[in-house]
Amino acid sequence: MKSIYLTGFMGVGKTTIGQALATKLGLPVVDTDTLIEQNMKLEVKDIFEQYGEGYFRKQETKTLQELAVRNTLVTTGGGIVTVQENIDWMKENGCMIFLYADPEVIWERLENDTTRPLVKQKKKEEVIELFTTRLPLYNQAHITVNTTGLTLKDATEAVHNAIKTWNNSPH
Ligand code: S3P
Repeated sequence: MKSIYLTGFMGVGKTTIGQALATKLGLPVVDTDTLIEQNMKLEVKDIFEQYGEGYFRKQETKTLQELAVRNTLVTTGGGIVTVQENIDWMKENGCMIFLYADPEVIWERLENDTTRPLVKQKKKEEVIELFTTRLPLYNQAHITVNTTGLTLKDATEAVHNAIKTWNNSPH
């Protein structure tokens, strides 16, 4: 089957849901942030600090395009959609899924986070504004799953069902 790309805003649970989903689907899971960190031997926050966001985005596109386009579950960084080429790639080569959660829920998860450069020292309004700006980008996904209020188990199940439906439809 074509690869699955899990996208969505920071804090929505892409990595956690991705790992549970990979077990269900029997697929290997890879995370673009983790691969970039391994390649550069630096944490994402240090890459932003030392090289800037633009450089990180270039690494993100390169990493995405080097991954297998079959039988792989790819969890992505929340900003992967800020480069249209990445959206086009995911949609062309696999199934792009948008994990949605209400911005209030997301903010609760991100509020005290110090590891994400785009959240650190940001006010709630600023983070929600970034979320709103990105919504039309995420909305280009083949499938949207609303995870608001769902447990990990139920969210994973919802994504699993959506993938089964997508696999059985002509595309
Ligand atoms: C980013 C999201 C992060 C990471 C980087 C930038 C973003 O990944 O790629 O800090 O621009 O939304 P997560 O979505 O896994 O936190």
